[in-house]
Amino acid sequence: MTTDNSSMESVSHEHRKFPPASEFVKSAHISGEAAYKALYEKSIQDPEGFWAEAAEELHWFKKWDSVLDASEAPFFKWFDGSRTNLSYNCLDRHIEAGRGDKIAIHWEGEPGDARDISYKQMHLEVCRFANAMKARGVKKGDRIAIYLPMIPELAIAVLACARIGAVHSVIFAGFSADSIRDRVLDSETCMVITADGGYRRGKMLELKQIVDEGIASCECVKDVVVVKRGDAHPVDCKMQEGRDSWYHDLVANVDDDCPAEEMEAEDLLFLLYTSGTTGKPKGIMHTTAGYQVYSYLTSKYVFDLKQDDVYWCTADVGWITGHTYIVYGIMQNGVTQVMYEGAPNHPDEGRFWDIIEKYKVSIFYTAPTAIRAFMKWGDDWVTRKDLSSLRLLGTVGEPINPEAWMWYHKMIGAERCPIVDTWWQTETGGHMLTPMPGATATKPGCATLPFFGIEPAILTDDGEAVEAGILAIKKPWPGMLRGIYGDPQRFKDTYWCKWGGKYYFPGDGARRDEDGYIWILGRVDDVVNVSGHRIGTAELESVFVEHKDVAESAVVGVPHEIKGQGLVAFVTVIDGREQDDQLRKELVTMIDKSIGKFARPERILFSSDLPKTRSGKIMRRILRDIAEGKELGNVTTLADPTVVQDLQQQYLKG
Ligand code: PRX
Repeated sequence: MTTDNSSMESVSHEHRKFPPASEFVKSAHISGEAAYKALYEKSIQDPEGFWAEAAEELHWFKKWDSVLDASEAPFFKWFDGSRTNLSYNCLDRHIEAGRGDKIAIHWEGEPGDARDISYKQMHLEVCRFANAMKARGVKKGDRIAIYLPMIPELAIAVLACARIGAVHSVIFAGFSADSIRDRVLDSETCMVITADGGYRRGKMLELKQIVDEGIASCECVKDVVVVKRGDAHPVDCKMQEGRDSWYHDLVANVDDDCPAEEMEAEDLLFLLYTSGTTGKPKGIMHTTAGYQVYSYLTSKYVFDLKQDDVYWCTADVGWITGHTYIVYGIMQNGVTQVMYEGAPNHPDEGRFWDIIEKYKVSIFYTAPTAIRAFMKWGDDWVTRKDLSSLRLLGTVGEPINPEAWMWYHKMIGAERCPIVDTWWQTETGGHMLTPMPGATATKPGCATLPFFGIEPAILTDDGEAVEAGILAIKKPWPGMLRGIYGDPQRFKDTYWCKWGGKYYFPGDGARRDEDGYIWILGRVDDVVNVSGHRIGTAELESVFVEHKDVAESAVVGVPHEIKGQGLVAFVTVIDGREQDDQLRKELVTMIDKSIGKFARPERILFSSDLPKTRSGKIMRRILRDIAEGKELGNVTTLADPTVVQDLQQQYLKG
């Protein structure tokens, strides 16, 4: 196991504890510690009863025959026999309840343009686009790639797919053309929905061009739908005859009514590609009924959602956080939310706080990386703003260091708002470990306790229970992934084999403290979390070795002040090639092209060889130590100990 010891040390002496304010507790859905404990016990003793009760709050065309079917584990089935539709539960249900005029989305574009969209309007837009997709021949089960900036059409496209039973595969708009190609080919996508561009830090990213390049060789793509975003900065957007159409043309002549498809419980809802330990991202499969109930209930309880809340999650819909906690979970709860297109520091570093002030945001959910950037930008950006509408804060995506937690608590939460530090994954579909805001006393940097129905354990490699070790999840839960697209064996091997099928293996290290709270200690595999973006080191390595002058490479994650973790690449070059900045540039360009700029390493070091054991295995532990400037200790097991001296000297040279 390779748990990051530095994070273990930094949180192991953190004992401050912050109980929720009594005002908050009084009106919370889960009010007080005893209420949490009682409901948690019930959810563990009788999970099927617990989940059935939660499901009753939603709309079903037909109710389930069984809540959980484990007969083909780990291919679990939830709410088998039911028929339902996520878009119905996100939209129609609220209109039927007389809440159609309520604002679903206060959208704000980076240049300052804004749109308020009610649930009724959202419903209309979703129905129209769903009909437009049908008119282009899209059928239930077809895979649709969505590569859009954070504009309302992104949520509309997602819900339109759900409405007609098409499977969406959202690709974060920071991914490169090659990444689009790989995802489109893996899932045999027939349609890509994109925009002419999207704003980021005042610039227009030309998304359609990236799509054109990505799908040039993808014969499966028959249709490209293009949303016009760039009115102010017209983009030269070439449309390919017969393949490309403008979104606004397609929705101009369609019916307003599109009945929601009655989906089976285990019908595929979406694919979302995420990084693992190999060079190839995997298409995580989420299905309909279980994900629906899990996204609904975690949103309701963890964010303590009430009808008068204004919620804002700063994630991009391109990641799982945006799927569950912008689109599905939040809209099923019928609350109003803010959706923002751009960067936190455009036009200045106070943009987020302006938005909170303007829309009177009451619940704010962001990433530790953003919080650390705000800390660095200085308190003045915050203190000038009125943040008194806030009542609850959340973090997601990576461990939050106690210093950043305390700053968030004091500067943003005015020591009044509970903070929910939510640990979960693309694969889990929703929150797994998290404080209950009206019940759990929080500790800075700690994801605390399990959500209802979740039974965590901390184990050794051999399955022995320990205080600090590898996190494991014992019981199945409704939001769990159902597979890896096209690769059932990889699904079993990756998540279910470690402890003989008895536990789900998430790939994180954890420690349990004297209160039974769980502290996440970072990944135990070769996955790195850069600014909350998950990147497999093998993905970068496989890109580097494609360079004709590179013999071998190893990439490791190292602590980074703002990003949480950064990447350092060690590259060996074949004889004769200069190991210089020119080569570095070429390698960085390859990463930009193959993955995306967000995966650029902090540093690239060249050497004649990499530290290896005598059996030829690269010793990543040593590379991590070098990259962290640590003492190396015993290197006698290395085949050639001089290799590390060379690397260490280079590293220190800077
Ligand atoms: O290592 C954990 C970290 O992010 C990983 C999951 O990444 P991804 O699938 O991209 O989903 C991110 C959004 C849910 C986990 O294996 N992680 C996520 N949340 C936390 C976290 N680490 C510590 N604390 C968290 N709250």
